[in-house]
Amino acid sequence: MTDILNHIDQGVMTLTFNRVDKKNSITSAMYAALADALEQAEQDAAVRVVVFQGHETIFSAGNDIADFLNNPPAGQDSPVFRFLRNIAAFSKPVIAAVAGPAVGIGTTLLFHCDLVYAGDNAAFSMPFVNLGLCPEAASSLLVPQMMGYHRAAEALLMGEPFMAEAAQEVGLVNRVVPPLELNSYAQAQARKLAAKPITSLMTTKRLMKQSQAAQIKAQMAEEGASFGRMLQEPAAKEAFGAFMEKRKPDFSKL
Ligand code: COA
Repeated sequence: MTDILNHIDQGVMTLTFNRVDKKNSITSAMYAALADALEQAEQDAAVRVVVFQGHETIFSAGNDIADFLNNPPAGQDSPVFRFLRNIAAFSKPVIAAVAGPAVGIGTTLLFHCDLVYAGDNAAFSMPFVNLGLCPEAASSLLVPQMMGYHRAAEALLMGEPFMAEAAQEVGLVNRVVPPLELNSYAQAQARKLAAKPITSLMTTKRLMKQSQAAQIKAQMAEEGASFGRMLQEPAAKEAFGAFMEKRKPDFSKL
């Protein structure tokens, strides 16, 4: 699977979205590779930190829309839901390096990372409503919690992009750096973490996250059920059809 590069060095597993011609949009095969990599990283003592990165021009355009139409997620064991469960429950530190657009799950996966670094060209968006869908990855819980309700409502109801500086202001991004320096900055931070005592890292992460773990799992399951149902409904069909035909969607009759 070359659309997801998986490289382990000095305690750091780096997972790179490597499908730039399709804006690093994520197919079900890519979700399966990511879910498997996280399972491997959980078990492998040689992995102490995981880094997600893309290209300096694009992090990820989210779900591959054509693949989503052809292989809609079939239930909770589908690759996308397996990936989301694995990243939400992942016990070791996770860093994301985001340059360029991060659309849909490209943004919502960040709520499950411990540190997020962004290029100054990063543009975050969660356009689920514009696609006739609803939030996933427990973002309907985590976005309001992080940003406050009104900013979350703007991000999730309007679905418009917000830039790196705004993301740093609301606490989604730790630091903004020039896009060409981003991946090496994230690697350097990952190596610093990897040199620390792993039990202390894992215990600290568990203590910070455990009070909400069950709620996140339940929210994800509820979102997943709605998302799966809405994917089959006319609004999503119109939105996805419009994307494939490179036209504006028309929801006026829906
Ligand atoms: N699924 C499938 N293909 C996608 C894609 C996606 N999510 N996002 C981009 N692509 C493809 C385009 O169809 C295009 O393919 P083509 O060259 O064969 O026509 C190629 O990637 C380049 O995309 P383009 O839109 O021309 O790039 P851009 O630089 O103008 O815009 C984005 C980049 C990410 C802003 C834009 O592609 C976009 O908004 N994509 C849709 C994102 C989305 O709605 N994702 C949520 C899915 S739930």
